[in-house]
Amino acid sequence: MLEIAKTKVALQELLQPHRRSGRRIAFVPTMGALHRGHIALVNGAKDLADVVVCSIFVNPTQFNDPTDLEKYPRPIERDIELLELAHCDILFYPSVEEMYGTNEQWQMDLGELENVLEGLHRPGHFQGVTQVLKKLFDAVHPDIACFGQKDFQQYKVVEYMVNRLKLPLRIELCPTVREPGGLAMSSRNIRLSAAGREQAQQLYKVLKQTKADLPRKTLAGLCEDATQALDNSPGIRVEYFAIFHADDFTAASEASRGRPLIALAAIWVEGVRLIDNLLLSP
Ligand code: PAJ
Repeated sequence: MLEIAKTKVALQELLQPHRRSGRRIAFVPTMGALHRGHIALVNGAKDLADVVVCSIFVNPTQFNDPTDLEKYPRPIERDIELLELAHCDILFYPSVEEMYGTNEQWQMDLGELENVLEGLHRPGHFQGVTQVLKKLFDAVHPDIACFGQKDFQQYKVVEYMVNRLKLPLRIELCPTVREPGGLAMSSRNIRLSAAGREQAQQLYKVLKQTKADLPRKTLAGLCEDATQALDNSPGIRVEYFAIFHADDFTAASEASRGRPLIALAAIWVEGVRLIDNLLLSP
């Protein structure tokens, strides 16, 4: 049975007996509008711990675009049903007032992570993400927290924060779940028409092509060709396409080909911003 807490105090009460019994707690933070990608995280969390806590909170401080925040889908009844079906144990569903005081300041040094790709194109986004995750971690005190590879840079940001603040929890990266045509599942996909969804499928095709071409092209050539292929696809505008080191999240160069590489992209389709990535080498 899914138990729901809307306040930190109520959450503490639900978690106390589990903690007293020494049960391991895994945490899956989300902004709701749940899909199979989120549910895969819940399932992954179930394998790693005894109790799974999921949070649904559309965090205002991480939206750099007010329209995006306003249009963010909030189908809470359906989300609750999906969490019940997935046998999630606890849902933490706080209000904005429960999470934030007035005019609260937050500044976290995120190093270069904040100056590249998502950090560069969404100013302040990762400050908002770390701000809310610190609050959520403080409320849940999980042993493990699960994140999706779809938001790979976000995972690296969380890793950075956990190491920097020496937070007592382990973070786990779970694979990206895709729709049958390859489009990475995202709460924002709801805003795409059927035609838009089909156009957006091109992104994963281009990522896979980039991986296939890795042995025979330069890294700069790969990025150029991928950007051109996407720009030539109907309905798509490319924001960035880049190849980075998957370990320290710095831009890759020819000299570092032997290191684990990841291709990452952000595109716009029908006014919706979509991101995806693919590991190119182990
Ligand atoms: P949200 O976009 O709801 O995503 C919640 C978690 O689900 C993230 O870890 C994300 O990477 C993962 N996820 C999303 N789509 C996925 C997919 N197709 N396959 C696998 N995992 C997927 O990311 C956030 O919310 C917020 O920034 C949050 C961390 C909750 C902080 O507010």
